[in-house]
Amino acid sequence: MNAPLCEIAELPGPPGLPVLGNALQVSPVRLHTVAEKWRAQYGDFFRFRLGSRRFLAIADAEAIASVLRDRPEGFQRTERLERISREMGFGGLFSSNGAHWKRQRPMVMAGFDPAHIKAYFPTLVKVTERFARRWVRAAEAGREIELQSDLMRYTVDVTAGLAFGADINTIESDREVIQQHLDKVLPALFKRVLSPFPELKLPFLPARRERARHLEALRVAVEGFIAQARARLEANPTLRADPQNLIEAMIVARDSEGSGLTDEDVAGNVLTMLLAGEDTTANTLAWMIYLLSRHPEAARRATEEVRGLLGEARLPTLEQIGKLAYVDACMNETMRLKPVAPIIVNQAARDSVVAGIRVPKGHLVLLLMRPAPTDERHFRDAAAFHPERWLEAGKESGIAAPSSAKRVAMPFGAGPRLCPGRYLAMQEMKMVMAMLFAGFDVASVETPDGGEAREALHLTMAPVGLRLKLSRRK
Ligand code: HEM
Repeated sequence: MNAPLCEIAELPGPPGLPVLGNALQVSPVRLHTVAEKWRAQYGDFFRFRLGSRRFLAIADAEAIASVLRDRPEGFQRTERLERISREMGFGGLFSSNGAHWKRQRPMVMAGFDPAHIKAYFPTLVKVTERFARRWVRAAEAGREIELQSDLMRYTVDVTAGLAFGADINTIESDREVIQQHLDKVLPALFKRVLSPFPELKLPFLPARRERARHLEALRVAVEGFIAQARARLEANPTLRADPQNLIEAMIVARDSEGSGLTDEDVAGNVLTMLLAGEDTTANTLAWMIYLLSRHPEAARRATEEVRGLLGEARLPTLEQIGKLAYVDACMNETMRLKPVAPIIVNQAARDSVVAGIRVPKGHLVLLLMRPAPTDERHFRDAAAFHPERWLEAGKESGIAAPSSAKRVAMPFGAGPRLCPGRYLAMQEMKMVMAMLFAGFDVASVETPDGGEAREALHLTMAPVGLRLKLSRRK
């Protein structure tokens, strides 16, 4: 006989106030850590409320995977994310639902498939060479590097190159760059999405005026990418049959009869790609550089692997990238301990049942992605940074990741909305780590207060204020 279904209201959860619920216990930048503490207290399934918004929180890996796989029919991105993103011009694949999402997904997948990424490799090398020159200048001047903002210049340039065929070179620019606008707009988007209250529309407030200025600058940049791509298609009409990148493919699709796609969709996806490709990859890299600075033995092994493979060369070939097994393991271990998407929020698109809990249509579901992969039930010595666990060597030392590891740690999500940028991200990350270890010695990675790096959630989970000091390889 089946066990009786449980209602969300019957689950445990933190006590809250009338009207506000738990809103005063949570600030958006710490939502993930607060929710992780609640999970330690109330278990893998609990409930909480931010104003009128009621959440079912899930930390059990199997139940998380079942929600992520049941899309788009059973679950979807929240209506609020969809609406606010569209209002702010980010209405692309990430925030769309239903038929609108379905129409865009294959096109984006094609733009990021391994064959495209392979063809892009020479440009990736060019962008990485520029980035290395920036760090050489910093090393020679004895200057500290603001790690995240430098890495974001790199990831924005890479994404624009691959997705839009545009060489924007923010790495070598001293002018106001796209990434500085994204930095302001993304936290605002995130705050609005999570706010327990509806936002008052007061355009005269200085913060709103400032946000409008950044959004306008981004709109101009996006129009520029689209205009350049249209010019390429006009100059070379054969490209219409064989678009070279995502933006060309989107324009061709938009122009074809009955596509159902609009100019707004194309622009929304351009911004979405910048958004989705920038913070995620840069922050994962920042976490990896930070964790390796705190684990000198792992850093030594990664350096040895890179230098052994590359010899005197400063950047790897495509073939060598595939051989960086230890660096790859460091990446997996970083994403296990510091997933830049520690929460994924979905909304039930119909009445559902998850792990015996009835989830009514419209209810919000907060998936906690870190508790399972940092739980001793799944990984031995789970809180520690052991890249070896992802390698054969892990078997000898008894800390090998279990065969279910990839089903428990899901840094790129899962199911039909799995991150389409993951191949690009992994290649970028290995490229930067190889560039770093081949050309430099890391002198220090400092935090603002000298303690452990703090986590702040601004759509993605970033380490706060890391500063890197390098010297050129001896
Ligand atoms: C380390 C780097 C990255 C991480 C950890 C990451 C993680 C994620 C996660 C967790 C999701 C949500 C998946 C889900 O709902 O199941 C996602 C979606 C997405 N990512 Fe990434 N991502 C990374 C890099 C990138 C890059 C480089 C791009 C493109 C330039 C990208 C584009 C997207 C897009 C467009 C979506 C929305 C997919 C959809 O809703 O259908 N990501 N990513």
